[in-house]
Amino acid sequence: MVLPSLTTKYHHAPYPSIDPNRPELSASGKVVVVTGGGTGIGAATALAFVTAGARVVALLGRRPQPLQESKSQIQSAYPSAEILTFPLDVTDEAAVGDCFASLTHRYRGIDVCINAAAYLSDQGTIAAGPVSEFWKAFEVNVKGGFIVAQQFLRNGSRDGSVLIGINSLIAHLPASIVEQCPASYASSKIALAKLYEYVASENPGVRCYSLHPGVVETEMAAKSDAMAPPQKDNPFLPRDEGKWRPIQMVSVRDQTTFLHVDERRY
Ligand SMILES: NC(=O)c1ccc[n+]([C@@H]2O[C@H](COP(=O)([O-])OP(=O)(O)OC[C@H]3O[C@@H](n4cnc5c(N)ncnc54)[C@H](OP(=O)(O)O)[C@@H]3O)[C@@H](O)[C@H]2O)c1
Repeated sequence: MVLPSLTTKYHHAPYPSIDPNRPELSASGKVVVVTGGGTGIGAATALAFVTAGARVVALLGRRPQPLQESKSQIQSAYPSAEILTFPLDVTDEAAVGDCFASLTHRYRGIDVCINAAAYLSDQGTIAAGPVSEFWKAFEVNVKGGFIVAQQFLRNGSRDGSVLIGINSLIAHLPASIVEQCPASYASSKIALAKLYEYVASENPGVRCYSLHPGVVETEMAAKSDAMAPPQKDNPFLPRDEGKWRPIQMVSVRDQTTFLHVDERRY
């Protein structure tokens, strides 16, 4: 069986053609918002955009401390980088609206919005898990994803702006081969993918993508491993090399999305 693939090669580590230092991937002058920007993939994405020359990057998340740490990490590499932090919950419509409105007031719009915030529930099986845990994944991943998209469209986006939903391949894989993943996570992620398909359809001037970031060691991955050890040698979810590293990114100029697609055949 072959991993579903749009390209011929699956990368497990950053590779030269997505290096944010490449001139053709420049994000020079861009105003970038990253939800979940305090940790993991969101923090790495923020650093990649600064590396690519973004004018300002706003980091959103609930906990102030990881936001501050992410900001410090970026500024230790790029001391003059303009990094803003917004401690907020993506399910808080008013807070997200205020954040986007203030950025738009200050910078006249938002060029790139990356929605990486998400919740992986402790749900266990459908029979065992409480409804509240199931629904929390929908609150954060779908309602939060909706609010971020809506506020971006109302309060920031303009022609050529980009919205990227960090999604997951797990949303598209048969449940039988990713049993360790709670139904709430996979089903909320596929709902988010459909939601962002509508964003793209309703807003031809906005480029909107759902993106699978690979399988990388982050707080969320650690929680997943703690709930259920990863299925050894699962050919559909191969672990990527080492820790998530900050050079995987999306070109906002040529619409290239990065996907981890493996040339190995299973
Ligand atoms: N790691 C993987 O292998 C993998 C694979 C496929 C997809 N993904 C996706 O990648 C994205 C990033 O996850 P990650 O792996 O980097 O894990 P992570 O480090 O745990 O990141 C999740 C982020 O979401 C934020 N967040 C959670 N709930 C929030 C809320 N209600 N409001 C605002 N922010 C909230 C968290 O910050 P606070 O707790 O401070 O709010 C955290 O910064 C997620 O969308 C995840 O589904 C990850």
